[in-house]
Amino acid sequence: MWEYTDKVMEFFYNPRNQGTITEKGEGQAITTGEVGSIACGDALRLHLKIDEATQVILDARFQTFGCASAIASSSALTELLVGKTLDEALSLTNKQIAEFLGGLPEEKMHCSVMGQEALEAAIFNYRGIPLDNHEDDEGALICRCFGVSDARIRRIVLENDLTTAEQVTNYVKAGGGCGSCLADIDDLIADIVTEKATAVAVATEVVKAKSAPKPLTNLQKINLIQQVLEEVRPALAQDGGDVELFDVEGDLVKVILKGACGSCASSTATLKMMIEARLRDRISPEITVISV
Ligand code: FES
Repeated sequence: MWEYTDKVMEFFYNPRNQGTITEKGEGQAITTGEVGSIACGDALRLHLKIDEATQVILDARFQTFGCASAIASSSALTELLVGKTLDEALSLTNKQIAEFLGGLPEEKMHCSVMGQEALEAAIFNYRGIPLDNHEDDEGALICRCFGVSDARIRRIVLENDLTTAEQVTNYVKAGGGCGSCLADIDDLIADIVTEKATAVAVATEVVKAKSAPKPLTNLQKINLIQQVLEEVRPALAQDGGDVELFDVEGDLVKVILKGACGSCASSTATLKMMIEARLRDRISPEITVISV
């Protein structure tokens, strides 16, 4: 017995929007998308009524042959669709259908996938796009038993963060027949995991590069040095001393200690603690200050 959420059971016992759409008003169109086959256990026919001017889905109905989760997923799909434009509807994922129901047992996730695919088929039909253009015909065929391509497996893996061939079987049935494609599915998942890790590493590097502070121009560096000297100058003046910037060569800052500071025994401490430490903090830890 599967563990279903209360919402799945509610949508199973009281499915919303079951049936077909037969009537349409002026400026409206009806389209249908069908996936699965009764021979394979689950089938779904989705009907949409569309406002042709705005491309908004006005009504959505379903007919399904399947288990409790197939009925609940199909009904949830129709609830999610009404009011959306076709483009918005196309961005709906099977994961969102499952989430709407509070989740589905993993072994039943293919019911949510079936809903998403029926939606795509209905919109393709409306737009006159041959269903041959479906991703199963774009990529290499991985699972001959269920006619599932690498493109379709790739999408499902990415959208649902799948990591095992068993999960792929639960979502799109691939691998659930003779099992001869399971090794290929494992290889494909390994490739996707590697690609994702590479993409994350590249994105992290980009963020780092963007957030890294830009190197200071010479003018900015000199201005900062002058600021620091202005800050320490009052303290030096109290002891009858002063300091002046003489030159900057890379990270070497040359200053002239004047007045009492010029002959003071602790002038090195003044340079290191009052000036160099501040400059290292604000400009670069490589800064060295010397008196000339
Ligand atoms: S080829 Fe995939 S299960 Fe048979």
